[in-house]
Amino acid sequence: MEDVTLIKIKSEILNKVRTIYHKEFDEAYKKFKKNEKNKSEFYRKYLTPTSGLLYYLQWKILSQISIKQLFIKSGLDKHIKKNITKDYLIYSMIFCRNHVNSINVKNYSLKNILHYDSYGPNTTTFWMPLHKINKNSGGLIFLSKKKLSNKDTKNFILLKRYKNKNLYQVKCEKGEIISFNKSLFHGANLPKRGFKRMTLDLRIADKKEINLKKFNKNYYSTKGVFRPNKFLSLNKIDNELKKFALQNPRSLLQLNY
Ligand SMILES: [Fe+2]
Repeated sequence: MEDVTLIKIKSEILNKVRTIYHKEFDEAYKKFKKNEKNKSEFYRKYLTPTSGLLYYLQWKILSQISIKQLFIKSGLDKHIKKNITKDYLIYSMIFCRNHVNSINVKNYSLKNILHYDSYGPNTTTFWMPLHKINKNSGGLIFLSKKKLSNKDTKNFILLKRYKNKNLYQVKCEKGEIISFNKSLFHGANLPKRGFKRMTLDLRIADKKEINLKKFNKNYYSTKGVFRPNKFLSLNKIDNELKKFALQNPRSLLQLNY
């Protein structure tokens, strides 16, 4: 499918990443839970996409992973240099997602979920699931005018038809990741009840296209959440990701984000 590209990577390094995810998300539950009955209830309450707790856990996870090694060992660095650009920078806003089913499914509306990734320059996003993705896990969804070819049915599920567009969900084996650019109208659907989904979202851009003056500082959002905002080379990204630390992690459990 032209709108999105499926890339096969070497997945061994993802096992280590997944172990760290489990450790950090489990620990956060034990440390911060209040009256929540189980992990799912805790995660769906506090791990919203822009919650302080998620940023805190992302920092903890990314401090233990070498993004440089991930790019090199997975083969992604090779893929980018061959197919996208020889000289790229990595956006320091890297998302570590742990999705569980939500009790608010009734309020779940595609209108609120679908969006374009627009971070300023022309970025390429890599959506990297840490395990197999199917209908149960849910996953990346996007709108496209394209119809599925026979070959495509292995990797895309048609969810819904609109007038002249189709809504697809991707389907991947472990080690298959998806890349797309800022012209893709996309989002993610929820895992089915009892299932969850862990992913890593990375963005890169061609060094020539970035105004580095605009991306030389991190900042805090209007809601007081730390926002990484730098484009860095493969050699500098790991150091940057280890810098952020919180003074008071307990202050993260605010629900009015
Ligand atoms: Fe997105």
